[in-house]
Amino acid sequence: MRAVWPENLPLTARFGVLEFDGRDEETLVEAIDLVRTFKAEGLDFLNVSIGFSTIEARVPWGNGFMAPIARRVRVETGLPIATAWGMDQPEDATAAINDGSMDVVMVARGHLADPHYPFRLARNLGIAKSSALLPKQYAYWLARYPGPQNGEPVD
Ligand SMILES: Cc1cc2nc3c(=O)[nH]c(=O)nc-3n(C[C@H](O)[C@H](O)[C@H](O)COP(=O)(O)O)c2cc1C
Repeated sequence: MRAVWPENLPLTARFGVLEFDGRDEETLVEAIDLVRTFKAEGLDFLNVSIGFSTIEARVPWGNGFMAPIARRVRVETGLPIATAWGMDQPEDATAAINDGSMDVVMVARGHLADPHYPFRLARNLGIAKSSALLPKQYAYWLARYPGPQNGEPVD
């Protein structure tokens, strides 16, 4: 892949590194070995996920449950790592970045549930000019949208 992918673009992949099927240590060790090979072949960044290939899986759904797995892949391969799955609470995301579990936090369903998701979080966290986090055209619209509290445009 690296040979045909433009040098100036990162080569990224998503990889289900375990199944939560009771064989997790074995699967994870094999997966980490493979990730080392991917890295040697030029992979720049990995999104760590779940295999979802067996009905035996008992996934421990909960906030940030993939963070320790991501951390292990990150530490043992030295690759920049992301994960998703229950990372949509800003406190969990911040902790995962600060404690070195991952380099990037990914959020899917949070955006489906609320199209203003990153904007709302930024406002809740007291970040000034929250609309600047959004694509320009969207920020332009949202900055003129009546605020939910007092009818004032949001910022
Ligand atoms: C409607 C929908 C479609 C998805 N499609 C894909 C997909 O095609 N490939 C994939 O790897 N993950 C897919 N996912 C999984 C998301 O990428 C993400 O890993 C998952 O929803 C967990 O993150 P979250 O807890 O922030 O939602 C999909 C999720 C949703 C809700």
